[in-house]
Amino acid sequence: MRAQVGIVGAGPAGLTLAHLLHREGIESVVLEDRGREHVEQRLRAGVLEQAIADLLVDAGAGERLRREGIVHHGIELQFDSERHRIPLSDLTGGRAIVVYGQTEIVKDLIRLRVDADLPLLFDVSDVSVHDLESERPSIRFSHDGGEQILECDVVAGCDGYHGVCRPSIPAGVLSEFSREYPFGWLGILAAVPPSNDELVYSHHERGFALLSLRSPELSRLYVQCRPDEDLAEWPDARIWEELQLRLGLEGWTLAEGPILEKGVTGMRSYVAEPMRFGRLFLAGDAAHIVPPTGAKGLNLALHDVRLLAEALTSWYRSDSSELLDGYSDACLRRVWRAEHFSWWMTSLLHRFDSADDFDLKLQLSQLRYVTSSIAAATSLAENYVGIERV
Ligand code: APR
Ligand code: PHB
Repeated sequence: MRAQVGIVGAGPAGLTLAHLLHREGIESVVLEDRGREHVEQRLRAGVLEQAIADLLVDAGAGERLRREGIVHHGIELQFDSERHRIPLSDLTGGRAIVVYGQTEIVKDLIRLRVDADLPLLFDVSDVSVHDLESERPSIRFSHDGGEQILECDVVAGCDGYHGVCRPSIPAGVLSEFSREYPFGWLGILAAVPPSNDELVYSHHERGFALLSLRSPELSRLYVQCRPDEDLAEWPDARIWEELQLRLGLEGWTLAEGPILEKGVTGMRSYVAEPMRFGRLFLAGDAAHIVPPTGAKGLNLALHDVRLLAEALTSWYRSDSSELLDGYSDACLRRVWRAEHFSWWMTSLLHRFDSADDFDLKLQLSQLRYVTSSIAAATSLAENYVGIERV
């Protein structure tokens, strides 16, 4: 097999890259080790920066996003039994966020690719990447019982944090930076209309909680938990009880409903630099992870592939490698801004078992500051809706 670009991973990064390249007349093959059903059902984040929603719409992949995505102009921060609104759009010259599940983006992109009869292989196994420093890198994999080799000009490593591409880079090339957090999030999807029109990020003595949504009928909610929390210890009634305590306010009720899905996510910050080795380009979670508190993971992945698609287009069209050579640095500027913002939101809102009263007072003072100072609120808002130029 041959393709101009071999893409490992059919998450949002790999699928969006394939789509953007196709629109520029560049052929790619996407290889995914899980099944289509698995990929289309994996429950993930759901907040898009406006620029990312626009990217998908402008690329012809946002038809359902435009119909079903819910535009939000603010978020709420809760602490000390009060809610405070951060008016995102007022503070950012009218920019907003769009609530639309990552799962739905993945489904839309898969449908487009399958309908166009373009190569997207699920259930591949034993994926390995080779000759990355040559002009003819290749990807070996098994599919339908046979071993195959895909030769390409460039390999895009869009295979997430646990993928094979980043570990294929020889030792000593990458610098890695990381932080583990001593907690995770227990998330649920519930068949109940969201109890609030906007997202609520709640600081609480029992731990953080988040109210989010997926549609007018579906709520998405999270509580801070242990990183290795055992779901068996969390029957539905306990989850609702904890959510009621952490999100509850006088005069407001959190409506409960059947829990359709639950899961625990660990929290980590991680960056690998550079995001390139020879003809291998890393994008999305393969190169960096953020804790979900700033809602940046999906957005960063799509910012990466937008730049990668532009750089590859310029390389094929004009034979100039300038953009490809600048790819890693350009991505990393935004990545580190998001790393800081996500770490900051996480530090601001979670309960740390190691924290003493001094730490708690600092958190509350900072929360009061970002909800009362226009300068501080604007800083949060522009990071949340997405910095235009980094
Ligand atoms: N071979 C082929 N595919 C692989 C391999 C492999 N060896 N290893 C992993 N994959 C696939 C995974 O099954 C997954 O479908 O690569 C894909 C990576 O997708 P994501 O993990 O969704 O990563 P990315 O596309 O970068 O999107 C980032 O996902 O984790 C969230 O919060 C994160 O929203 C962010 C987004
Ligand atoms: C979600 O809706 O899943 C969600 C929203 C905001 C976050 C993280 C997750 O910060």
